[in-house]
Amino acid sequence: MPSNANLSVNVFNHTFRNPVIPAAGPNVGSGEMVRRTAEGGAGGLLAKTISSIAAPVPHPNMVRMGKDSLLNTELWSELSPEQWFDHEYDIALAAAREHGLPLIASIGYTAEELASLAPRLEAIGIDIIEFSIHYLDAQKLIDTARALRNAVSIPIVAKLSPHAGDLGEIARVLEPYVDGFACINSFGPTLMIDIEHAQPLLGSKFGFGWLSGAALKPLALRSVFEVARVTSKPVIAVGGVSRGEDLIEYFMAGASLVGVCTAALLNGAKVYGKIADEAAQWLDAHGYTHIEEVRGVYLERFREGQRVVTTVEQTAWVDESRCKSCTVCEKVCQFDALKAPPKTLAHVDSAACTSCGLCVSVCPFDAIELRQRNLAA
Ligand SMILES: Cc1cc2nc3c(=O)[nH]c(=O)nc-3n(C[C@H](O)[C@H](O)[C@H](O)COP(=O)(O)O)c2cc1C
Repeated sequence: MPSNANLSVNVFNHTFRNPVIPAAGPNVGSGEMVRRTAEGGAGGLLAKTISSIAAPVPHPNMVRMGKDSLLNTELWSELSPEQWFDHEYDIALAAAREHGLPLIASIGYTAEELASLAPRLEAIGIDIIEFSIHYLDAQKLIDTARALRNAVSIPIVAKLSPHAGDLGEIARVLEPYVDGFACINSFGPTLMIDIEHAQPLLGSKFGFGWLSGAALKPLALRSVFEVARVTSKPVIAVGGVSRGEDLIEYFMAGASLVGVCTAALLNGAKVYGKIADEAAQWLDAHGYTHIEEVRGVYLERFREGQRVVTTVEQTAWVDESRCKSCTVCEKVCQFDALKAPPKTLAHVDSAACTSCGLCVSVCPFDAIELRQRNLAA
């Protein structure tokens, strides 16, 4: 369905036709793949991380976990910087100019590597540089960011790793040197085992890999909120974006763009446009005309947190016009407060209900809500 909502955003002094961009990964592992993301509806472009040498990547290096998460043991690009500068960036830049989109290049990792790669990227017309940092040491973080800042005048974005500690604090330390942040990189190391053969599923030494996709989203969302709380510079939210609602959620937490890797690996390049379309439809349905209207609304309301209620002031309440007697709520109620025998509308014993909220979140028909005890009769 065509949508009226405007998704175009201006970030880092560039216009993105919508806020959905690729996040670094094999989805943008070559110039042609970057072109595919433009054709798939991405609002801006990004090319896979390169470094001073081609990455020695173990094989196999990706395995799906559950329906929509991944473990990977990729590193940066398996293509050499020469290959990127001689060939891949030309294709990516041509696609960017053809579609009128900004192109972000991603680089790593040491101060020396960034200082040597970045000016070459600026010289060929790259619009923005993202650098991945995994250091735990604050001085090393600053030295790296400063080296890049001194090397180029185009916008630079620090991509933060979830294991690096307090990302709000890291953002505060890096803020003087960078133009924005990307949150977060994949999380790990983690492990999956092939139990039929008692062997690793990934080719790394112990089968360890890094978690991404839906399982990462709550961690990423919390990180985006914490970073957006301490900086007014743009934050690219990365982690488990696969639907329009994910984009809305990240924007409410303060994001200015969202990055997509796992969902593109599992669903193909059309997913960027799909996410943007769904977000526009959500905005239409909720009476918004521009994506910027939802940006930061959660951040501003809960910047200082909410009142924490430790007494039981509420009870589950069943909207009988919505209840379909499915019995799901009874199964999850640990307190025997919900009775839902087959073919019977769910019923709450308010005296037993502890207002834990689990039934509300599992009801497939949105038939349960928490109400103040004195109003729930
Ligand atoms: C297979 C794979 C390779 C990745 N390679 C890179 C990389 O080269 N540089 C980087 O900064 N992040 C890399 N990432 C991390 C993603 O860019 C992203 O931060 C993370 O996967 C979370 O987003 P997602 O849930 O949309 O995948 C990679 C992720 C995956 C799954």
